[in-house]
Amino acid sequence: MAGLLLLTLLTVTLAAGVHYDPTWESLDQRPIPAWYDEAKFGIFLHWGVFSVPSFVGAWFQDFWLNKRADVVDFMQNNYRPGFTYADFAPQFTAEFYNPQQWALLFNASGARYVVLTTKHHEGFCNWPTKYSFNWNAMDVGPQRDLVGDLANSIRKITNIKFGLYHSLFEFVNPIFLQDQKNHFKTQDFVKYKTMPELYELVNMYKPDVIWSDGDWMANSTYWNSTEFIAWLYNNSPVKDSVVVNDRWGNDTWCKHGDYYTCSDKYNPGVLSKHKFEDATTIDKVAWGFRRNALLSDFNTIEELLQQFVTVVSCGGNFLLNAGPTPDGMITPIFEERLRQIGQWLNVNGDAIYATRPWTTQNDTATPSVWYTSKKSATGISVYAIALSWPKGDNLELAAPQAGPATKVALLGYPGYFDFKAGATSGMTIMIPGIPPNRLPCQWAWVFRLDNLKNQ
Ligand SMILES: *[C@@H]1O[C@H](CO)[C@@H](O)[C@H](O)[C@H]1NC(C)=O
Ligand SMILES: *[C@@H]1O[C@H](CO)[C@@H](O)[C@H](O)[C@H]1NC(C)=O
Ligand SMILES: *[C@@H]1O[C@H](CO)[C@@H](O)[C@H](O)[C@H]1NC(C)=O
Ligand SMILES: *[C@@H]1O[C@H](CO)[C@@H](O)[C@H](O)[C@H]1NC(C)=O
Ligand SMILES: *[C@@H]1O[C@H](CO)[C@@H](O)[C@H](O)[C@H]1NC(C)=O
Repeated sequence: MAGLLLLTLLTVTLAAGVHYDPTWESLDQRPIPAWYDEAKFGIFLHWGVFSVPSFVGAWFQDFWLNKRADVVDFMQNNYRPGFTYADFAPQFTAEFYNPQQWALLFNASGARYVVLTTKHHEGFCNWPTKYSFNWNAMDVGPQRDLVGDLANSIRKITNIKFGLYHSLFEFVNPIFLQDQKNHFKTQDFVKYKTMPELYELVNMYKPDVIWSDGDWMANSTYWNSTEFIAWLYNNSPVKDSVVVNDRWGNDTWCKHGDYYTCSDKYNPGVLSKHKFEDATTIDKVAWGFRRNALLSDFNTIEELLQQFVTVVSCGGNFLLNAGPTPDGMITPIFEERLRQIGQWLNVNGDAIYATRPWTTQNDTATPSVWYTSKKSATGISVYAIALSWPKGDNLELAAPQAGPATKVALLGYPGYFDFKAGATSGMTIMIPGIPPNRLPCQWAWVFRLDNLKNQ
C-alpha cells in the first residue's frame, strides 16, 4: 500500500518533471534508476598507458613521479636513458583489440553493465577528446577511439549497459598542481579540463554509469560536482537512466551519489540501507594488467562467487575488474573467470538478478548460506545460496519457517526435495543422492524456498 502510494507520487512527480538543485540535499532525493539495482553484476576494465609497464610494485604513478628507487632502476635497466612515462604511450598499441569479441565475452559472463576507464590518474584519454592534446588514444598509441568502439559493439550486440570511469584529477597536470598550491581556491583545472571532459564524454557516449574517481585531494565544491550532477539529472541526454557513484570530493564518499562505493573492494557483510557496489578485482594485486602475475594471485571462482553472493545478499552490486593487455587482449585467466560466472548465472540467475535482500542475510545454523528473495506470480521465493555443499546431504537452516504449502527445489535440478520443519522455526532440507554428473553446477548451490510462513 505504502509502496503503491510512493509509486503514484513518483509517477506524478516524474510526469511533472522533477528539477534538481546543485546541492547534495536536492540531488540525494533522486530515486536510483531501477535497472541498476536489478543488474547486480557488472564488469570493470582498467586499461590505459599504465597497462604497458605493468609489473607489480610499479603502479604507473611511480613511473611518472620517477621517485622510487626500484622504479628508477627498472627504467634505467630496461629502457634507454632519459625514457619517461610518456614514452610508454606508443607501446599502447591495442593491435588485437576486438570490441565485438569483448562484448560477446561480457555477455557470456552474465554481466548487465560494463565500466571502462576513459582516463585514469595519468591523464591519458582513451577517446579523441578536444581537451587532451597529444595525450589521447587517437593521437598516440592505438590511434583509435577505444571508448566509442566498445560502446558501439556492446550496444549493437548485447543489452548490456555501458558506463564510464573517469578520474577527476591528474597527478602531474601542471594546472592541477597550481590549483593545489593555491589550496584549491582557484579552479582552473576544473574549468579547463575536468568539466569540459565530463560534458564531452556524456554528450558523445551517453553513458549509463559515471564512475567518478581521483577526487580525494579536494572537496566537491572545488570539483563543481553538484553543478555537473544537477545538469546530468536535469538536462543531459541520459537524465533518466544514468547512475553515478559517490566519489565526487573528499566530503562525499559513502554519503552522496546514486550508489556508494565507500572504499575499494567494499563488502560490508551486513545489510546496507543505501545501494552500494563492491568494486573488486580478479587479480588480487592490481587493477591494471600485470605481466608478472602468477596463477596464485588470481581469485578462484569459489572466492569470487563467495564475494558476489555476499554482496548481493546485503543489497549491493558486484563490479568485477579485469585488466586488458596493452595490445588489447583479455587474457585467458580473466576470460575463464568471467565465463565461469556466466555458467553459474545461467543456472542460478533467478537467485541474483532483480532480487531483493531478505529479512535475514546469512543463516545462523549454516552461516555459509546467504539469502536473497524475489516476488513471483505465486508469492515470494526465498533463495538460500549454499557456498559449500551441505554436510551429510542435510541442509540445516534456522531462518525460514516452513508451512504446509512450502516447497523446496534446487535450481537447475528437477522436482522438489523433502524437508522437516522445526518446532518453532528453521527447517532441515533432505537432499537426495545426486550423481555428480547430474549436479546443476560445481560451485554455490541455490535452494529455492516457496511459500514460507515468513516469506
Ligand atoms: C547473450 O547472453 C544471453 C544469455 O546467456 C544469450 O541468450 C544471448 O544469445 C547472448 N547474446 C549473444 C549475442 O551472444
Ligand atoms: C562552478 O559552478 C558555479 C555555479 O554554477 C559556476 O559559476 C562556475 O563557473 C563553475 N565553475 C567551474 C570551474 O565550472
Ligand atoms: C577536503 O578538501 C578541501 C579542499 O577542497 C580541504 O580544504 C579540506 O581540508 C579537505 N578535507 C579533508 C578531510 O581532507
Ligand atoms: C570546500 O572547502 C572550501 C575551503 O577550501 C570551503 O569553503 C567549502 O565550504 C568546502 N566545501 C564543502 C562541501 O565542504
Ligand atoms: C555471517 O557471516 C559472517 C562472515 O561473513 C559471520 O561473521 C557471521 O557470524 C555470519 N552471521 C551469522 C548470522 O551467522
